[in-house]
Amino acid sequence: MAYPKPSRRSWAEPWKIKMVEPIRMTTSADREKFMVEAGYNTFLLRSEDVYIDLLTDSGTNAMSDRQWSGLMLGDEAYAGSRNFYNLWEAVTRYYGYKYLVPTHQGRGAEHILSKIMIHAGDTIPGNMYFTTTRLHQELAGGTFVDVIIDEAHDPANAHPFKGNVDLAKLRHVIDEAGPGKIPYVSIAGTVNMAGGQPQSMENLRAVRAICQPQGIPIVLDATRAVENAYFIQQREPGYQSKKVAEILKEYCSYTDTCTMSAKKDALVNIGGWLATNEQGLFEEARNMVVVYEGLHTYGGLAGRDMEAMACGIAESVQDDHIRARIGQVEYLGNHLLDWGIPIVQPIGGHAVFLDAKAFYPHIPQSQYPAQALACYVYIDSGVRTMERGAVSAGRDPKTGEERFPNLELVRVTIPRRVYTQAHMDVVAESVLEVFEQREQARGLKMTYEPKYLRFFQARFEPA
Ligand SMILES: Cc1ncc(COP(=O)(O)O)c(C=O)c1O
Repeated sequence: MAYPKPSRRSWAEPWKIKMVEPIRMTTSADREKFMVEAGYNTFLLRSEDVYIDLLTDSGTNAMSDRQWSGLMLGDEAYAGSRNFYNLWEAVTRYYGYKYLVPTHQGRGAEHILSKIMIHAGDTIPGNMYFTTTRLHQELAGGTFVDVIIDEAHDPANAHPFKGNVDLAKLRHVIDEAGPGKIPYVSIAGTVNMAGGQPQSMENLRAVRAICQPQGIPIVLDATRAVENAYFIQQREPGYQSKKVAEILKEYCSYTDTCTMSAKKDALVNIGGWLATNEQGLFEEARNMVVVYEGLHTYGGLAGRDMEAMACGIAESVQDDHIRARIGQVEYLGNHLLDWGIPIVQPIGGHAVFLDAKAFYPHIPQSQYPAQALACYVYIDSGVRTMERGAVSAGRDPKTGEERFPNLELVRVTIPRRVYTQAHMDVVAESVLEVFEQREQARGLKMTYEPKYLRFFQARFEPA
């Protein structure tokens, strides 16, 4: 008997599984109870009550055997740990920055950077906000201004580089505020809140050409810059034959400083850094880290954490790794697209983003449709996702009014090297089930609102 030949050859992950962690399936009655107890906030669920955990790709990576063995090489000296120098060397080799200050995670670096660089009344233009980044900018007295291209605010627009800066918007903000009031331009590659969308090399080069003559530095949020480099390799003319590692280094070379949450690209469970080419900034940051994080050769981390990071950085830039990582996200996203489920397009680097406004046109944004959608998915299958819409956007610090962003999304985030294709099938089928039940869905009202980063701890009940 002749079997139909597949139209293309399959790919597989460049690793095999050596250790497994059991996960628990619950009943839908259990999950309804857990959801009520968690105040309809997936951040407040206990992880033991979650079946497939797609809350975040942050710190949820599976480390390799080499990283685990690196833990045994931890040099836990208070000062001058060998692992710190290994990390510094890895950051310089792969990201290209001269100086390194380790921090416990990304927001530790954002805090220090904002305190040093931002003064009251400053304006910080950037390619869409990120929650912790913008909060630190605001707490330091600055105002973030979004200068991303308009396409980024439209979930259905298939622009290949929705993380690009709109150069006319950037020029306008600089002219309005005056270059002296712009401590830096804040660039993220990829852009989390836009749906994991990349910025092109050409666009970053153009941003550089605007900023450099005016003496305005560029600070990169390098959290997912390796994923950004992969998209450049796949989509930008002239980069197809270059290695991701080479593209990453070129990308970073157009910036002066970076903050990093190593819990994402760098394949570890904790860690971050601030890296820079500016000696003056380095010296100030190295001094300030002592106040908030720990000595400048550990920044709140154990020596072993820094060793795992150094090793994870080298693994993260391998083409085979990043192709499989993003390939898995695309596998899930394409499944959903085939079923006509509204998601942000193109499919992002670290997550598939469900378009909650298109899911639930009958739920007003003031009743948090994305928050509700994340709850329905959990109740259906025990799959945990998270809101990225009005709840995450919070309130304007000046007016106190709620911010209602154009994008009202649920992030279905894929941890690196953790789940299999079968898990992705289960997730896709659950989203389909919830989509089919969409007309019965109801919105939520907030019953408890914390002051900062409310999405982490807010509580809700059905509206
Ligand atoms: C783009 C981006 N920047 C910064 C951060 C903050 O990093 P951390 O969670 O390590 O503090 C995150 C975390 O989710 C992020 O996605």
